[in-house]
Amino acid sequence: MADKIGKVLFTQEDITKRAKELAKQIDEDFKGEEVILLGTLKGSIPWLVDIMKHTTIETKLDFISASSYGSSTTSSGVVKIRYDASINMYNENVIVVEDIIDTGNTLKYVVEKLKERGPKTIKICTMLNKEARRTTDIHADYVGFDVDDLFVIGYGLDFDQKFRGLPYISYLEEEDVEGL
Ligand code: IMP
Ligand code: MG
Repeated sequence: MADKIGKVLFTQEDITKRAKELAKQIDEDFKGEEVILLGTLKGSIPWLVDIMKHTTIETKLDFISASSYGSSTTSSGVVKIRYDASINMYNENVIVVEDIIDTGNTLKYVVEKLKERGPKTIKICTMLNKEARRTTDIHADYVGFDVDDLFVIGYGLDFDQKFRGLPYISYLEEEDVEGL
């Protein structure tokens, strides 16, 4: 299968600009407080770095990895934590930093698990929001960009572990995703 990359949806410049805007909003919302930035592995890393670099409040960093089993392009709804954060979240402000919210299954499960740890606040910062595919009532507090129902790649987002390193966000052309 030839992996055909579509047009550039968001350039590095677009992404940096948006991350700065959201970082400023986070600074205002948590003025004088500390925040744990909890990245969801692996896709959120480039976006998380952008957010972290541009916030001026005190931030702590940790990661969590959850996966929903299903086909390679859609999640099944059965979520498992593969790698868990070790930081103490009790009475802390936690911002879960996600690459993309699609159905919302993965994040809903993760947020429910995290709530059991007694954080003071829990917010969601996602680079991309694919609202059209949402099947859960999950709501992101900070959204980089809304995207149409495309299979997006780059800037951390993969298809079969490929394309994460692209310094922009694109998508896979339709014919390549079909029949998987
Ligand atoms: P959800 O549980 O359906 O919201 O799926 C969330 C996860 O599926 C994301 O964190 C991504 O890892 C992956 N995902 C969903 N849509 C895409 C996409 O268009 N491109 C790459 N990964 C995606
Ligand atoms: Mg993810």
